[in-house]
Amino acid sequence: MARVYNFSAGPSMLPESVLKKAAAEMLDYEGSGQSVLEMSHRSKTYDKIIKDAEALLREVMNIPDNYKVLFLQGGGSTQFAMVALNLMNKNNKADYIVTGQWAKKALQEAQRYGDAKAVASSADKTFTYIPKTDKSMFREDADYVYICMNNTIYGTVYHELPDTGDIPLVADISSCVVSEPLDVSRFGLLFAGAQKNMSGAGVTIVIVREDLLGNAMDITPTMLNYKIHADAGSLYNTPPCYAIYIAKLVLEWIKNEVGGLDKMKELNEKKAKLLYDFLDSSEMFKGTVVAEDRSLMNVPFVTGDADLDAKFVKESTEAGLVNLKGHRTVGGMRASIYNAMPYEGVVALVDFMKKFEAENK
Ligand SMILES: Cc1ncc(COP(=O)(O)O)c(C=O)c1O
Repeated sequence: MARVYNFSAGPSMLPESVLKKAAAEMLDYEGSGQSVLEMSHRSKTYDKIIKDAEALLREVMNIPDNYKVLFLQGGGSTQFAMVALNLMNKNNKADYIVTGQWAKKALQEAQRYGDAKAVASSADKTFTYIPKTDKSMFREDADYVYICMNNTIYGTVYHELPDTGDIPLVADISSCVVSEPLDVSRFGLLFAGAQKNMSGAGVTIVIVREDLLGNAMDITPTMLNYKIHADAGSLYNTPPCYAIYIAKLVLEWIKNEVGGLDKMKELNEKKAKLLYDFLDSSEMFKGTVVAEDRSLMNVPFVTGDADLDAKFVKESTEAGLVNLKGHRTVGGMRASIYNAMPYEGVVALVDFMKKFEAENK
């Protein structure tokens, strides 16, 4: 069996040892005689799985005790509404920094429920940088400031968080969750669709400071109320059981095989450096993001010639390097090198790019 190097932006690669463990446990999970897929979410066995997943996430991310961890459905996109419905609750105002499509979609969704305002944007240069902000740019009575921390499509990341003073900071960390250590106490709320770095599609992780719960707008549907899920330990209704189980295995992998988030960051930096150093030295391929805001996870690049880009995508696919086509709004190529992409995968990509450059001069 030949496995490819999958550079997809999500769903994306999972660690091979996780897939093997899940396969070994598929028919009989720990002597229960059942697959996790078949198990009641109210069973003792499943209760241990979800509790272990939460405990591992708390340990790996060093989440303070005054934060709740929720396992929800609906993907990152449902969070765009949930954040507004639950947190835009004091002055009905929120400030958004628009660094790409996902932040823009979050803003547009919030505008359905209140005075959500774009206070900064990098749209002027096709989102190739993170706009500088200072505290004075935020409205003092904003209920929260919203950022998309890692911009999956454009390949930018916040290396330094904006200073929002006492205003809670909300961040979409869908494409950088558990890729490096993060000071959770700097945030009011974090959320991540897990299908890039933590699991398969289906589970969305929310980490929310307790004091922000309990004030959702009256119109908030029950299923979109954080407090309902927090009070029920994410078991208000049937949770995405299997995706939570895979998240547990991935967190075990980070803790036991990788050695924690400091080590994870080191590995991710090593992979990204290899690719960025090559892009900086190549005459054919160019990275599209300003150097200081480059993401460790998503690396967009172009040749400047659409036909050559298409040829590259076709030939790289044939060579077992798949899903390198850039997002339809950007063109060119994008290599998503999440946690589970091995260093050897990036070596194979860079070797292929060198060969392609030599053959197509
Ligand atoms: C940063 C970011 N936020 C939100 C989303 C939307 O996530 P979902 O497809 O789970 O709704 C994505 C999807 O790629 C993303 O990259």
